[in-house]
Amino acid sequence: VINMKDVDLTNKRVLIREDLNVPVKDGKVTSDARIRAALPTIKLALDAGAKVMVMSHLGRPTEGQYEEEFSLQPVATHLASLLGQDVPLVKDWLDGVEVESGQLVLVENVRFNLGEKKDDETLSKKMAALCDVFVMDAFGTAHRAHASTHGVAKYAPVACAGPLLAAELEALGKALDNPARPLVAVVGGSKVSTKLTVLESLSKVCDQLIVGGGISNTFVAARGYNVGKSLHEKDLIPQAQKLMADLDIPELTDVRVGTEFSETAVATIKPVDQVADNEEIMDLGPDSAQVLAEILKNAKTILWNGPCGVFEFDNFSKGTEVVAQAIADSEAFSVAGGGDTLAAIDKYGLADKISYISTGGGAFLEFVEGKVLPAVAMLESRAQN
Ligand code: 3PG
Repeated sequence: VINMKDVDLTNKRVLIREDLNVPVKDGKVTSDARIRAALPTIKLALDAGAKVMVMSHLGRPTEGQYEEEFSLQPVATHLASLLGQDVPLVKDWLDGVEVESGQLVLVENVRFNLGEKKDDETLSKKMAALCDVFVMDAFGTAHRAHASTHGVAKYAPVACAGPLLAAELEALGKALDNPARPLVAVVGGSKVSTKLTVLESLSKVCDQLIVGGGISNTFVAARGYNVGKSLHEKDLIPQAQKLMADLDIPELTDVRVGTEFSETAVATIKPVDQVADNEEIMDLGPDSAQVLAEILKNAKTILWNGPCGVFEFDNFSKGTEVVAQAIADSEAFSVAGGGDTLAAIDKYGLADKISYISTGGGAFLEFVEGKVLPAVAMLESRAQN
């Protein structure tokens, strides 16, 4: 694909698609990782003397409708404070945007436009007509074939990849395409069903697979142990058994259980074969966590998505912390992605010690599954003609 760094942006109208879909509470941005990740791209365009328009979605509003709770105003305000320059938010922008060289405007939530999610041709052409150069930089939304990611890239005079998108593709490619081995994947989270295809794809490329959280409960059950009232999926036990037959999935020796799913539940450490009917597994036990930490210490590449326990409850956060710390301490090239994973990394203050933190959630998982990201495929096809 063409990289923005190789395109002359001086005095050009440059439309940048970012993923500024960040959590907002009471009109304030509560986690700005995605905004900070987009800053270098935006600064590069401003420094080149471009007329910069940035677009993004926020949340999932009713398509085609303005809904104040999904307005990008909090993002514009936050972006302005990070950049130290005005960032006007333009509400009606499809028929043209006023912007000077070296200036930046944010245009209102792309999902307020009818046709955005259907990749509508007329809408895509309107977006394309706003610019001389379209920069696709929203890795987090690259798995969506929408007008502002895919359609506009088809019709813009020039369509290129921004530095953030390029860096994401490079980091994930390095971890998956020809990784230094052993490659160890850590997949946590609550359900096997939502990550089954990810687990199956990883089973073909990684040397060891660590499963955590509710996912690991299904594997514990698949080994024939009682999991009590633990979150698990009985109907997926055969799939878990197949994965265990195909691949080295380390067995847990002990777990932390509670008798209710709550912040104040007391954590009791139990051998994995002694979970009672009224108990639920909510975290790794200390021995299990240590075994996993040893494995991670010897890894050369690590791919991490999903916490290893109910880390938002302090009594059940130790397992995720030990695993996160082991990933941070490891000399491996480590890549982490997904909202909960990033929240865990923040909670333990380890962001600087992970080699690459992806801004993608769904896009990260689809990349790992080996799926084509439609917006990237469009940039590739544009680069060829
Ligand atoms: C995300 O947060 O994963 C992206 O911003 C995509 O959002 P979506 O799932 O609403 O398309």
